[in-house]
Amino acid sequence: MTSSNIKMLDEFLTQCQQRVDQRLAEKLDTEIISHTLKQAMQYACLGGGKRIRPVLAYGSALAVGGELAAADNAAAAVELIHSYSLVHDDLPAMDDDDLRRGKPTVHKAYDEATAILVGDALQSLAFALLSSDGEPLEATTSLAMVHLLSQAAGATGMVGGQSLDFEAVGEKLTLEQLEQMHKLKTGALIRCAVLLGGMSAGSASESQMNALADYADNIGLAFQVQDDILDVTSDTSQLGKPQGSDSDKNKPTYVSLLGIEQATELATSLSDKAIAALEGFPPSADPLRELASYVVSRLH
Ligand code: IPE
Ligand code: IPE
Ligand code: MG
Ligand code: MG
Ligand code: MG
Repeated sequence: MTSSNIKMLDEFLTQCQQRVDQRLAEKLDTEIISHTLKQAMQYACLGGGKRIRPVLAYGSALAVGGELAAADNAAAAVELIHSYSLVHDDLPAMDDDDLRRGKPTVHKAYDEATAILVGDALQSLAFALLSSDGEPLEATTSLAMVHLLSQAAGATGMVGGQSLDFEAVGEKLTLEQLEQMHKLKTGALIRCAVLLGGMSAGSASESQMNALADYADNIGLAFQVQDDILDVTSDTSQLGKPQGSDSDKNKPTYVSLLGIEQATELATSLSDKAIAALEGFPPSADPLRELASYVVSRLH
């Protein structure tokens, strides 16, 4: 990446992060009778996280000629699902991690019951937000977006992938099995973020949506390959979550199967494929192009 590309991407990341943070803060400041639940939901969602999925949703809206504002609800809804997935992923019954986004995990700062409820509540809030009034979209499009998020979040997507992840502990997976697991546990929600962003613009053609799906599939897998690499190469303070968590739990990863060098080559080739999928898109797709490079060069 050249220095002017890095500057452009930094500005775009900051702008999108501010937009989604504002929407999340608003939505988490509504009346929730249980003070502890409300505080813990805010703790889980605000003040941390790269907001990659929201940024992808915004980037996608721009790529098909939409405005950033069109993607506000989609961006926040996907981040709510993602934040919930992290709260549950860290629970003792799952990855049993104590640090997330540079802070104690929700079950450490509060307790396990609160962490389970926070996840449940964030998930419902995501769907409330995506189906809320005031959307300038046609009802059929809004409904299709809600359906897409439900598929990406549930047993056919992220939750299904998490289940495969637990079945794989201590096992030796084939590359195909590992790919399937990663595509579900991480790829599905990233794909959904990209597609919801495109749909929120309200004017994307079928061929544009197909190209976005191709972009998203590649970047979604690349993202988890890089996550596996960082689990080995980075450190806890930079990651904001415990380094070495995968090997401690005997989880198969791209690094355990391929080694660092080949895993890195794979991540780069997936990122290149994502960029190639956007051929023919106008310069408004440049943030998506830059994001494809960022996903595999990021250090946390
Ligand atoms: C971590 O996601 C979990 C994975 C699916 C790999 P992120 O790396 O996007 O985590 P945050 O949101 O920045 O904390
Ligand atoms: C997480 O995968 C996928 C989720 C659906 C949360 P990981 O377990 O590798 O994520 P980290 O490394 O804890 O962020
Ligand atoms: Mg996990
Ligand atoms: Mg984990
Ligand atoms: Mg990980």
